[in-house]
Amino acid sequence: MTTPSSSSHEYNGPHSSEENSRLDYQHNALRTVMGSKTFHATLPTSPTRILDIGCGTGVVTLELAEKYPSAQIIAVDIILPTHPIQDLKNVTFIQGKFADLVADGTLEPGSFDYIFSRLLILEITDWKKQTSLISNLLKPSGVYEVQDFSWNILSKEDKVIFDQYPIFGLMKEHAELKGLDTFCGDHHPKHLADAGFENIQHERFPWPLQYWPERPETYMLAHMYHGGESLGFRMTVLDNLLGRSGRYSPEQMDEIKADFEKMLKDFSEGTYQPYSATWGRKPA
Ligand SMILES: C[S@@+](CC[C@H](N)C(=O)[O-])C[C@H]1O[C@@H](n2cnc3c(N)ncnc32)[C@H](O)[C@@H]1O
Repeated sequence: MTTPSSSSHEYNGPHSSEENSRLDYQHNALRTVMGSKTFHATLPTSPTRILDIGCGTGVVTLELAEKYPSAQIIAVDIILPTHPIQDLKNVTFIQGKFADLVADGTLEPGSFDYIFSRLLILEITDWKKQTSLISNLLKPSGVYEVQDFSWNILSKEDKVIFDQYPIFGLMKEHAELKGLDTFCGDHHPKHLADAGFENIQHERFPWPLQYWPERPETYMLAHMYHGGESLGFRMTVLDNLLGRSGRYSPEQMDEIKADFEKMLKDFSEGTYQPYSATWGRKPA
Protein backbone atom coordinates (compact mmCIF):
# COMPACT_ATOMS: atom_id res chain seq x y z
CA MET A 1 0.00 0.00 0.00
CA THR A 2 1.19 3.54 -0.72
CA THR A 3 -0.11 6.77 0.80
CA PRO A 4 1.42 9.59 -1.23
CA SER A 5 -1.51 11.98 -1.05
CA SER A 6 -2.85 13.56 2.12
CA SER A 7 -5.05 16.44 1.01
CA SER A 8 -8.26 17.05 2.95
CA HIS A 9 -11.53 15.85 1.49
CA GLU A 10 -15.22 16.32 1.95
CA TYR A 11 -17.20 13.18 1.24
CA ASN A 12 -20.96 13.37 1.72
CA GLY A 13 -21.48 9.69 2.55
CA PRO A 14 -20.61 7.88 5.79
CA HIS A 15 -17.33 6.15 6.65
CA SER A 16 -18.12 3.51 9.29
CA SER A 17 -18.05 -0.24 9.87
CA GLU A 18 -21.83 -0.31 9.39
CA GLU A 19 -21.37 1.42 6.02
CA ASN A 20 -18.70 -1.12 5.04
CA SER A 21 -21.12 -3.99 5.70
CA ARG A 22 -23.78 -2.15 3.70
CA LEU A 23 -21.39 -1.68 0.76
CA ASP A 24 -20.54 -5.40 0.66
CA TYR A 25 -24.23 -6.35 0.83
CA GLN A 26 -24.98 -3.74 -1.84
CA HIS A 27 -22.32 -5.25 -4.10
CA ASN A 28 -24.11 -8.60 -4.07
CA ALA A 29 -27.51 -6.94 -4.43
CA LEU A 30 -26.29 -5.02 -7.49
CA ARG A 31 -24.84 -8.19 -9.01
CA THR A 32 -28.24 -9.83 -8.58
CA VAL A 33 -30.14 -6.99 -10.23
CA MET A 34 -27.61 -6.84 -13.09
CA GLY A 35 -27.95 -10.54 -14.02
CA SER A 36 -25.05 -11.88 -11.88
CA LYS A 37 -22.63 -9.39 -13.41
CA THR A 38 -20.44 -6.71 -11.85
CA PHE A 39 -18.86 -5.44 -15.09
CA HIS A 40 -20.54 -4.92 -18.46
CA ALA A 41 -17.81 -3.67 -20.78
CA THR A 42 -15.73 -5.96 -22.95
CA LEU A 43 -12.11 -5.38 -21.97
CA PRO A 44 -9.16 -5.18 -24.35
CA THR A 45 -7.55 -8.62 -24.70
CA SER A 46 -5.08 -9.52 -21.91
CA PRO A 47 -5.31 -6.29 -19.87
CA THR A 48 -2.16 -5.52 -17.87
CA ARG A 49 -3.26 -2.52 -15.79
CA ILE A 50 -6.72 -1.87 -14.32
CA LEU A 51 -7.86 0.99 -12.07
CA ASP A 52 -10.71 0.84 -9.52
CA ILE A 53 -11.57 4.43 -8.48
CA GLY A 54 -13.22 4.85 -5.06
CA CYS A 55 -12.81 1.15 -4.25
CA GLY A 56 -14.57 1.40 -0.86
CA THR A 57 -14.25 -1.92 0.98
CA GLY A 58 -12.28 -3.37 -1.95
CA VAL A 59 -15.02 -5.81 -2.86
CA VAL A 60 -14.85 -4.96 -6.60
CA THR A 61 -11.04 -4.92 -6.52
CA LEU A 62 -11.09 -8.50 -5.22
CA GLU A 63 -13.28 -9.55 -8.12
CA LEU A 64 -11.01 -7.79 -10.64
CA ALA A 65 -7.91 -9.42 -9.10
CA GLU A 66 -9.47 -12.85 -9.39
CA LYS A 67 -10.83 -12.32 -12.90
CA TYR A 68 -7.59 -10.87 -14.31
CA PRO A 69 -4.74 -12.67 -12.47
CA SER A 70 -2.07 -11.45 -14.89
CA ALA A 71 -3.13 -7.79 -14.65
CA GLN A 72 -1.96 -5.32 -12.01
CA ILE A 73 -5.03 -3.85 -10.29
CA ILE A 74 -4.61 -0.38 -8.79
CA ALA A 75 -7.30 0.53 -6.26
CA VAL A 76 -7.66 4.05 -4.87
CA ASP A 77 -9.81 5.52 -2.12
CA ILE A 78 -9.58 8.20 0.52
CA ILE A 79 -10.18 5.53 3.19
CA LEU A 80 -8.52 2.16 3.76
CA PRO A 81 -10.29 -0.91 2.34
CA THR A 82 -11.68 -3.44 4.82
CA HIS A 83 -10.78 -6.44 2.66
CA PRO A 84 -7.04 -7.19 2.77
CA ILE A 85 -6.63 -6.46 -0.95
CA GLN A 86 -3.06 -5.25 -0.49
CA ASP A 87 -2.09 -8.84 0.46
CA LEU A 88 -2.84 -9.96 -3.11
CA LYS A 89 0.23 -9.94 -5.32
CA ASN A 90 -1.60 -8.35 -8.26
CA VAL A 91 -3.19 -5.48 -6.26
CA THR A 92 -1.75 -2.12 -5.23
CA PHE A 93 -3.89 0.05 -2.97
CA ILE A 94 -3.19 3.79 -2.97
CA GLN A 95 -4.84 5.99 -0.36
CA GLY A 96 -5.75 9.46 -1.62
CA LYS A 97 -8.19 11.59 -3.49
CA PHE A 98 -8.43 10.52 -7.13
CA ALA A 99 -7.90 13.99 -8.66
CA ASP A 100 -4.83 14.58 -6.43
CA LEU A 101 -3.32 11.24 -7.48
CA VAL A 102 -3.75 12.26 -11.11
CA ALA A 103 -2.36 15.77 -10.52
CA ASP A 104 0.80 14.54 -8.72
CA GLY A 105 1.47 11.87 -11.37
CA THR A 106 0.95 8.88 -9.02
CA LEU A 107 -1.53 7.60 -11.59
CA GLU A 108 0.33 7.69 -14.89
CA PRO A 109 -1.30 9.03 -18.08
CA GLY A 110 -1.87 6.50 -20.84
CA SER A 111 -1.18 3.51 -18.57
CA PHE A 112 -4.52 1.72 -17.99
CA ASP A 113 -6.44 -0.80 -20.11
CA TYR A 114 -9.65 -0.59 -18.05
CA ILE A 115 -10.91 1.96 -15.53
CA PHE A 116 -13.90 1.21 -13.33
CA SER A 117 -15.76 3.68 -11.12
CA ARG A 118 -18.94 3.02 -9.17
CA LEU A 119 -21.17 5.18 -6.98
CA LEU A 120 -19.16 8.39 -6.80
CA ILE A 121 -22.40 10.42 -7.07
CA LEU A 122 -21.80 11.98 -3.63
CA GLU A 123 -18.29 13.20 -4.39
CA ILE A 124 -17.75 14.31 -7.98
CA THR A 125 -18.67 17.93 -8.66
CA ASP A 126 -17.35 18.08 -12.23
CA TRP A 127 -18.07 14.93 -14.22
CA LYS A 128 -16.84 16.52 -17.44
CA LYS A 129 -13.41 17.02 -15.87
CA GLN A 130 -13.51 13.60 -14.15
CA THR A 131 -14.28 11.84 -17.47
CA SER A 132 -11.51 13.73 -19.22
CA LEU A 133 -8.98 12.83 -16.45
CA ILE A 134 -10.00 9.19 -16.87
CA SER A 135 -9.63 9.35 -20.64
CA ASN A 136 -6.07 10.69 -20.19
CA LEU A 137 -5.18 7.79 -17.90
CA LEU A 138 -6.32 5.18 -20.43
CA LYS A 139 -4.14 3.64 -23.12
CA PRO A 140 -5.44 4.02 -26.70
CA SER A 141 -8.37 1.53 -27.05
CA GLY A 142 -8.64 1.44 -23.24
CA VAL A 143 -12.13 1.03 -21.76
CA TYR A 144 -13.94 3.09 -19.11
CA GLU A 145 -16.99 1.85 -17.22
CA VAL A 146 -18.93 4.04 -14.80
CA GLN A 147 -21.94 2.98 -12.77
CA ASP A 148 -24.18 5.32 -10.83
CA PHE A 149 -27.64 6.40 -9.84
CA SER A 150 -29.96 9.01 -11.04
CA TRP A 151 -31.98 10.15 -8.04
CA ASN A 152 -35.09 10.32 -10.18
CA ILE A 153 -38.17 8.41 -9.01
CA LEU A 154 -40.25 6.23 -11.33
CA SER A 155 -43.30 4.04 -10.88
CA LYS A 156 -43.04 0.39 -11.92
CA GLU A 157 -44.81 1.47 -15.14
CA ASP A 158 -41.80 3.77 -15.80
CA LYS A 159 -43.76 6.97 -15.15
CA VAL A 160 -41.63 9.77 -13.65
CA ILE A 161 -43.16 10.61 -10.24
CA PHE A 162 -40.26 12.60 -8.77
CA ASP A 163 -42.44 15.68 -8.11
CA GLN A 164 -44.65 13.67 -5.75
CA TYR A 165 -41.77 13.45 -3.26
CA PRO A 166 -40.69 16.96 -2.15
CA ILE A 167 -37.94 15.62 0.17
CA PHE A 168 -36.14 14.23 -2.86
CA GLY A 169 -36.54 17.63 -4.51
CA LEU A 170 -35.01 19.23 -1.42
CA MET A 171 -32.08 16.77 -1.46
CA LYS A 172 -31.53 17.44 -5.16
CA GLU A 173 -31.54 21.20 -4.56
CA HIS A 174 -29.00 20.95 -1.72
CA ALA A 175 -26.80 18.49 -3.60
CA GLU A 176 -26.74 20.88 -6.55
CA LEU A 177 -25.76 23.76 -4.25
CA LYS A 178 -22.68 21.66 -3.46
CA GLY A 179 -22.06 21.15 -7.17
CA LEU A 180 -23.18 17.48 -7.23
CA ASP A 181 -25.19 16.03 -10.11
CA THR A 182 -27.88 13.78 -8.63
CA PHE A 183 -28.90 12.63 -12.13
CA CYS A 184 -25.34 11.73 -13.16
CA GLY A 185 -26.23 8.12 -14.03
CA ASP A 186 -28.35 9.38 -16.93
CA HIS A 187 -25.77 12.01 -17.94
CA HIS A 188 -22.76 9.69 -18.29
CA PRO A 189 -23.32 8.82 -21.98
CA LYS A 190 -22.96 12.53 -22.79
CA HIS A 191 -19.86 12.90 -20.57
CA LEU A 192 -18.22 9.97 -22.36
CA ALA A 193 -19.19 11.33 -25.79
CA ASP A 194 -17.83 14.80 -24.88
CA ALA A 195 -14.54 13.22 -23.77
CA GLY A 196 -14.20 11.49 -27.17
CA PHE A 197 -15.11 7.92 -26.16
CA GLU A 198 -16.41 5.60 -28.87
CA ASN A 199 -18.83 2.62 -28.85
CA ILE A 200 -20.66 4.10 -25.88
CA GLN A 201 -23.22 1.81 -24.30
CA HIS A 202 -25.66 2.47 -21.49
CA GLU A 203 -27.80 0.01 -19.59
CA ARG A 204 -30.36 0.90 -16.90
CA PHE A 205 -31.48 -1.24 -13.97
CA PRO A 206 -34.17 -0.59 -11.33
CA TRP A 207 -33.05 0.24 -7.78
CA PRO A 208 -36.36 -0.24 -5.97
CA LEU A 209 -37.51 1.93 -3.08
CA GLN A 210 -40.26 -0.57 -2.37
CA TYR A 211 -40.50 -4.35 -2.79
CA TRP A 212 -41.44 -5.51 -6.28
CA PRO A 213 -42.72 -9.09 -6.23
CA GLU A 214 -42.75 -9.45 -10.06
CA ARG A 215 -39.04 -8.57 -10.18
CA PRO A 216 -37.40 -10.93 -7.65
CA GLU A 217 -33.92 -9.85 -8.80
CA THR A 218 -34.60 -6.47 -7.15
CA TYR A 219 -35.44 -7.99 -3.75
CA MET A 220 -31.99 -7.59 -2.16
CA LEU A 221 -31.76 -3.88 -3.03
CA ALA A 222 -35.29 -3.23 -1.68
CA HIS A 223 -34.42 -5.21 1.44
CA MET A 224 -31.37 -3.01 1.94
CA TYR A 225 -33.68 0.00 2.31
CA HIS A 226 -36.41 -1.63 4.30
CA GLY A 227 -34.26 -3.95 6.42
CA GLY A 228 -32.56 -0.93 7.94
CA GLU A 229 -29.04 -1.54 6.53
CA SER A 230 -29.21 1.86 4.84
CA LEU A 231 -30.55 3.89 7.76
CA GLY A 232 -27.10 5.20 8.79
CA PHE A 233 -26.31 6.02 5.15
CA ARG A 234 -29.56 7.98 4.69
CA MET A 235 -29.16 9.90 7.92
CA THR A 236 -25.53 10.86 7.13
CA VAL A 237 -26.46 12.02 3.63
CA LEU A 238 -29.37 14.11 4.97
CA ASP A 239 -27.07 15.61 7.64
CA ASN A 240 -24.34 16.40 5.12
CA LEU A 241 -26.54 17.74 2.34
CA LEU A 242 -29.28 19.51 4.32
CA GLY A 243 -28.03 19.74 7.93
CA ARG A 244 -24.68 21.33 7.08
CA SER A 245 -26.37 24.00 4.96
CA GLY A 246 -27.31 25.81 8.18
CA ARG A 247 -30.83 26.32 6.83
CA TYR A 248 -32.54 23.93 9.26
CA SER A 249 -32.63 23.78 13.06
CA PRO A 250 -31.87 20.42 14.76
CA GLU A 251 -35.61 20.05 15.40
CA GLN A 252 -36.41 20.65 11.71
CA MET A 253 -33.74 18.10 10.72
CA ASP A 254 -35.36 15.53 13.06
CA GLU A 255 -38.70 16.20 11.37
CA ILE A 256 -37.22 15.90 7.87
CA LYS A 257 -35.58 12.59 8.80
CA ALA A 258 -38.81 11.23 10.32
CA ASP A 259 -40.75 12.30 7.20
CA PHE A 260 -38.17 10.58 5.00
CA GLU A 261 -38.56 7.29 6.87
CA LYS A 262 -42.36 7.56 6.68
CA MET A 263 -42.18 8.28 2.94
CA LEU A 264 -40.12 5.11 2.37
CA LYS A 265 -42.89 2.97 3.92
CA ASP A 266 -45.52 4.68 1.76
CA PHE A 267 -43.89 4.08 -1.65
CA SER A 268 -46.01 1.91 -3.93
CA GLU A 269 -44.80 -1.51 -4.95
CA GLY A 270 -42.00 -1.34 -7.53
CA THR A 271 -41.27 2.39 -7.19
CA TYR A 272 -37.65 2.69 -8.22
CA GLN A 273 -34.67 4.88 -8.98
CA PRO A 274 -32.63 4.16 -12.12
CA TYR A 275 -29.15 2.75 -11.66
CA SER A 276 -27.03 2.56 -14.78
CA ALA A 277 -23.83 1.26 -16.26
CA THR A 278 -22.20 3.30 -19.03
CA TRP A 279 -19.10 2.21 -20.87
CA GLY A 280 -17.05 3.22 -23.86
CA ARG A 281 -13.66 2.86 -25.57
CA LYS A 282 -10.97 5.46 -26.01
CA PRO A 283 -10.07 5.81 -29.70
CA ALA A 284 -7.11 3.71 -30.87
C1 LIG B 1 -20.52 4.78 -2.09
S1 LIG B 1 -18.88 4.26 -1.89
C2 LIG B 1 -18.70 3.09 -3.22
C3 LIG B 1 -17.54 2.16 -3.04
C4 LIG B 1 -17.30 1.16 -4.17
N1 LIG B 1 -17.04 1.83 -5.42
C5 LIG B 1 -18.47 0.22 -4.32
O1 LIG B 1 -19.20 0.34 -5.29
O2 LIG B 1 -18.66 -0.63 -3.43
C6 LIG B 1 -17.93 5.62 -2.48
C7 LIG B 1 -16.47 5.47 -2.16
O3 LIG B 1 -15.78 6.48 -2.86
C8 LIG B 1 -14.75 6.98 -2.02
N2 LIG B 1 -14.39 8.30 -2.50
C9 LIG B 1 -15.12 9.41 -2.41
N3 LIG B 1 -14.49 10.42 -2.98
C10 LIG B 1 -13.31 9.93 -3.46
C11 LIG B 1 -12.22 10.52 -4.15
N4 LIG B 1 -12.23 11.80 -4.49
N5 LIG B 1 -11.17 9.76 -4.49
C12 LIG B 1 -11.17 8.44 -4.15
N6 LIG B 1 -12.18 7.83 -3.49
C13 LIG B 1 -13.25 8.58 -3.15
C14 LIG B 1 -15.36 6.96 -0.64
O4 LIG B 1 -14.38 6.99 0.38
C15 LIG B 1 -16.14 5.67 -0.68
O5 LIG B 1 -15.37 4.59 -0.23
